Amino acid sequence: SAAEKGGYDYFMLKEIAEQPKAVADTLLGRIDASGLLTLDEVRIPASVLREVDKVVIVACGTAYHAGMIAKLAIEHWTRIPCETELASEFRYRDPILDQRTLVIAISQSGETMDTLMALRHAREQGARVLAVCNTNGSTIPRESDAVLYTHAGPEVAVASTKAFLTQLVACYLVALYLGQVRGTKWGDEIEAVIRELSDIAAAVDRVLETMEPVRALARSLADKDTVLFLGRHVGYPVALEGALKLKELAYMHAEGFAAGELKHGPIALIEEDLPVVVVVPSPRGRSVLHDKIVSNIQEIRARGARTIVIAEEGDEAVVPYADHLIRIPATPTLLQPLVATVPLQVFACELATARGNEVDQPRNLAKSVTVE
Ligand code: G6P
Repeated sequence: SAAEKGGYDYFMLKEIAEQPKAVADTLLGRIDASGLLTLDEVRIPASVLREVDKVVIVACGTAYHAGMIAKLAIEHWTRIPCETELASEFRYRDPILDQRTLVIAISQSGETMDTLMALRHAREQGARVLAVCNTNGSTIPRESDAVLYTHAGPEVAVASTKAFLTQLVACYLVALYLGQVRGTKWGDEIEAVIRELSDIAAAVDRVLETMEPVRALARSLADKDTVLFLGRHVGYPVALEGALKLKELAYMHAEGFAAGELKHGPIALIEEDLPVVVVVPSPRGRSVLHDKIVSNIQEIRARGARTIVIAEEGDEAVVPYADHLIRIPATPTLLQPLVATVPLQVFACELATARGNEVDQPRNLAKSVTVE
């Protein structure tokens, strides 16, 4: 009913709007005043976490994209080797696991069959499994050694939005906690990240307030067949997530690419007026990547693409090459997906509406896939 949707036309719109609160709720009580993480609910003894020599993340769909970003955070902050794999691939390939492997299973519903099978397989090999899950008492957390719940609240729309942002937050917390427990040298960067995490809900809110041009842009593209998405580092999974949302909701051909691969194939697809969304890394910090992406934007625009550029506030270098510019607040590099994904959710939702599609219940999809 309309009341259940909180006055919004679709659950998805309501859930997009709830993201600042979902993010804040997932952080609540987990960082103390001195910036230390208190994840006592993660009932894997510190002695075990100190011995972990490999992290493997398994998930499906949108949760897999959260896992791809989590890998970058875990390796950067803890220096523990980490790989992220689609649960459906992992379980059938004889992966190498032992008691020193920490497996993180990410799932909104906690009922996805492929993810469940992957974690069962991991536990049989002696690995510890930590679930990152949004549904209390669901199967995946029940069968795991420990669980860190995301506090997104119930997610009804099939296409995941607020659950994704909270999965990212939970994964950042796990990465920082691993570093804390293991005594990883706590540099200035980590302190800044923890401070910025506490402000991130406000940043997401700011993005939501500036979405009208994104909606107008989406409507103007309603009769397109294809949209491409490019990104690099954390922007690559964001590009994949933007493309997934567009497939799920708008039933359009949408593909995400690692921007560095452009010249290895995708650039052949660029033609006059093709919309290409580019997620631009911060010009601060890893500025090398920023400059490389700016050249990618120049290259595709020279070939006639219509460039839709998502870039940090104050990044002037992109301005000459952006047909459409979507601004996001500056964040530490690894946290950028929390703000960069939001315009892509709004974009897909509005395109679906413009194409007359059912937003909350896309054809052929299920909220939770409990079969193989
Ligand atoms: C389905 C949903 C996706 C979701 C995926 C994984 O495909 O349509 O939105 O990302 O399952 O679901 P989970 O509940 O495990 O996060």
